[in-house]
Amino acid sequence: MTDVNIGSHVCISQGAMLCTGNHNYSSPGFELIARPIIIEDGVWIGAKALVGPGITAFSHSVLTAGSIATKNLDSYGIYQGNPAMLAKTRTIKP
Ligand SMILES: CC(C)(COP(=O)(O)OP(=O)(O)OC[C@H]1O[C@@H](n2cnc3c(N)ncnc32)[C@H](O)[C@@H]1OP(=O)(O)O)[C@@H](O)C(=O)NCCC(=O)NCCS
Repeated sequence: MTDVNIGSHVCISQGAMLCTGNHNYSSPGFELIARPIIIEDGVWIGAKALVGPGITAFSHSVLTAGSIATKNLDSYGIYQGNPAMLAKTRTIKP
């Protein structure tokens, strides 16, 4: 079992996948390689987005709908695409 740690005030939208598992494609047996995922406070993972093994979404980052996170998401970054790239910085207005 591999951990997925989710902070507070997090939104994980419909069909998003937090995928901790990988397979070693250099091995004939495709051994499982599992790495934890951390979703910090205030993060939004958009609908049908995928967060890959070992990724940390740092606080208040956003992964837009359908995007694929293969690298960590910096705090307050808005990430888009496959692979997800920094598109904007999030500002939160009260
Ligand atoms: C819908 C979505 C793809 C729009 O992204 P986009 O087409 O790249 O939109 P743009 O970047 O062109 O945005 C146009 C403007 O609207 C704003 N905007 C877009 N989506 C926004 C959102 N969710 N919240 C606030 N502002 C938003 C942008 O900041 C931008 O403002 P600006 O022109 O002042 O910079 C993106 O917001 C997204 O993936 N949202 C998640 C949808 C989802 O998962 N819904 C499930 C709900 S449970």
